[in-house]
Amino acid sequence: MTLRDRRVQYETAGLDLADLDRDPIVQWHAWYDQAASAGVAEPNAMTVSTLDEDMAPDSRVVLARGVDHRGFIFYTNYDSAKSQQLVKNPVASAVFAWLDLHRQVRVRGSVQRVADQESDEYFASRPRESQIGAWASPQSQVISDRDFLEQRFAEFRAKFNDQSVPRPPYWGGWLLVPSAIEFWQGRPSRLHDRFVYTSEKSAQQWQIQRLAP
Ligand SMILES: Cc1cc2nc3c(=O)[nH]c(=O)nc-3n(C[C@H](O)[C@H](O)[C@H](O)COP(=O)(O)O)c2cc1C
Repeated sequence: MTLRDRRVQYETAGLDLADLDRDPIVQWHAWYDQAASAGVAEPNAMTVSTLDEDMAPDSRVVLARGVDHRGFIFYTNYDSAKSQQLVKNPVASAVFAWLDLHRQVRVRGSVQRVADQESDEYFASRPRESQIGAWASPQSQVISDRDFLEQRFAEFRAKFNDQSVPRPPYWGGWLLVPSAIEFWQGRPSRLHDRFVYTSEKSAQQWQIQRLAP
């Protein structure tokens, strides 16, 4: 089947204002739990978009490692392209695409670095091989070949030997503080349900509005 002929009819139940929690973070967790229970692959994966120094957008998938009333947290290399972009333009958007459930959640907001202590705690919880990988990979830089990575990995594994692996100073979390969160539910005939929560800057008061699909 060609791409232009491929169509899925969404027969899923609709979404009404009365179905939504007043708090978008509570609502996000309800949908995340349903996505995880339904067996969606990597349900905490989100596509994060940033702006480079020429204001050109750039996007990539990362894993949300914390979602609470502060916002959405992911971890990465602070020297990476995305982190450099976030330092220059501290705004981002994120999309969770739970396609098996015909659902999408979009988040927009500003970003700030996670406190070192919180990054330390998260880093300490990671598998040892991932910790060593964080030391070994100069994320987003051009490298000569795969051997370069394997050698660095072996070097850092030898260096840390049987000690615990500290968090690299150039690795940690970013917090996306939402100003808008949209929940999208696919419906028949492309008459999808969309609700957007927007917050007043002063208070964490959320207004909910239905949008045309
Ligand atoms: C499913 C999936 C999960 C990923 N999770 C992360 C992550 O949590 N942190 C991260 O830095 N990169 C993650 N990546 C890799 C990024 O997509 C990206 O390649 C990398 O962060 C470099 O992006 P940048 O050059 O724009 O900084 C993930 C990729 C995929 C496909």
